[in-house]
Amino acid sequence: MKFARVKPLDAILATAEKKALHRSLGALQLTLFGVGCIIGTGIFVLTSAGAQKAGPGLMLAFVIAGLVCLVAAFCYAEIASTIPVAGSAYTYSYATMGEFLAWTVGWALVLEYAIAASAVSVGWSGYFAGTILDEFLGLQLPAFLAAGPLALGGQPGGFINLPAAVIALLVTWLLMIGTNESAKVNAILVAIKVSALTAFIVLTLPAVETARFNPFLPAGVFGGFGSGVGAVGAAATIFFAYVGFDAVSTAAEETRNPQRNVPIGLVGSLLICTIFYVLVAAGAIGTIGGQPIMGPNGVPFPAGSEELARQCALPAYSGALVCSDEALAHVLRQIGFSSIGNALGIAAFLALPSVILVLLFAQTRIFFVMSRDGLLPERLSAVHPKWKTPHVVTAITGVIVATGAAFFPVGQLADIANAGTLYAFAMVAVAVMVLRRTDPDRPRSFRTPMLWLVGPATIFGCAFLFLNLPAGAMLVLPVWTLIGVGIYFLYGYRKSHLGQGLIEVHEPEIHDIEPAIPGVDERDPLDPPRRPPVTP
Ligand code: ALA
Repeated sequence: MKFARVKPLDAILATAEKKALHRSLGALQLTLFGVGCIIGTGIFVLTSAGAQKAGPGLMLAFVIAGLVCLVAAFCYAEIASTIPVAGSAYTYSYATMGEFLAWTVGWALVLEYAIAASAVSVGWSGYFAGTILDEFLGLQLPAFLAAGPLALGGQPGGFINLPAAVIALLVTWLLMIGTNESAKVNAILVAIKVSALTAFIVLTLPAVETARFNPFLPAGVFGGFGSGVGAVGAAATIFFAYVGFDAVSTAAEETRNPQRNVPIGLVGSLLICTIFYVLVAAGAIGTIGGQPIMGPNGVPFPAGSEELARQCALPAYSGALVCSDEALAHVLRQIGFSSIGNALGIAAFLALPSVILVLLFAQTRIFFVMSRDGLLPERLSAVHPKWKTPHVVTAITGVIVATGAAFFPVGQLADIANAGTLYAFAMVAVAVMVLRRTDPDRPRSFRTPMLWLVGPATIFGCAFLFLNLPAGAMLVLPVWTLIGVGIYFLYGYRKSHLGQGLIEVHEPEIHDIEPAIPGVDERDPLDPPRRPPVTP
């Protein structure tokens, strides 16, 4: 079948060989790098949505989602060390399962990166409106400008989330003109995020009242497929808090002794984040309580729904964790640490845009690689003569991200992003197993331990979390995939460079085309490092 055409791995690798990277990263650096990529809106904002789904069971949810990420991480580590080139899961699939499946993966990555960037923009907007406007400037953003039509937070009747759209466009503009976060700024933002969470834990844990954890699982462990509630329903949502760890595996090529250090970096960063997340959830729920607001049938109202927003507007629920747009700052304010709560709000306000930047950057580079392969119009990969960035694709991506951010609530955006990410993770696990069979002798600097257990576990874990997303978010993936398949047969199938016999090995046309975390100010365009220097 023509659409099962597989891109020769050696052609892909030829690109990488021309720019062999210096192996300089150690285990500690990788771990800290991972922590920086992972922490964002998931913990700072979605803690509310997670509590609405599972109550104190949110702590268990963080462990479940962390475990699924852990097995996926081992698969990423092997494939990234075997195929260390641009395009992430899309390229891995192209080399192992053929163009058609690769296209569906690339198309799903739009959900992972673009929609996730929308979600983080909405998360940022909550902290901007709550901490900067309200607490510091005494300004109330009119409700219709503070939230999309279906937003969480006692604001039914919102029309557009203006701050979220503006931050998304602002970050897009920075990327278009070629601004990348410097390694130093990156390190400072990581320190800010980690200090904010540490302060939160130190201040809340001593004030925990164990009675608040009772009932521990008010919506059960398993709320039913498509219900989006219960501990696994919450796990499917707060899985978002771990998105980004795959960045560590893509640094395999720059790591000293990758066989040892890549797994340490992956497991270490996931473990550290899981511990932070569980303790933060315990601190939040144990101090101000986090029981879900139940509907008449004894099932929690859906997070982000209008019904929940109406309940949150009632005096009985004023101050409830599950109603807050800025969960962690809100908790600190409620327990009497207003100024530290505001400082945490500022930390989120400063640090979250860098997460948007990372996600948007990754999205533009995936589009860039797909257009370079001929599966999307080549005009998209046009590089601006002065800025040296793929400005067309960046602008288009930015508009998509800003539109999502303007009209949808953070929880729903995160759920949709998770659906795409879970598909990509599962396909990476398949790719690793396929490559072990089809090309067993190819050198791998890291081999997934017990692959025939870990690979299927990843696929099962991803499918299980996917089935526990709310039905609406679950449905987005097949609909989105169908649209993608339509586009493929109308366009990519005929225009594919591989299909036309043009298997090319490209030189990078811009200094940083890899879907990496931005972080280098100045680079030699002839010797581009794949990743930014990782700062401890
Ligand atoms: N894990 C990232 C966040 O929570 C995407 O914002």
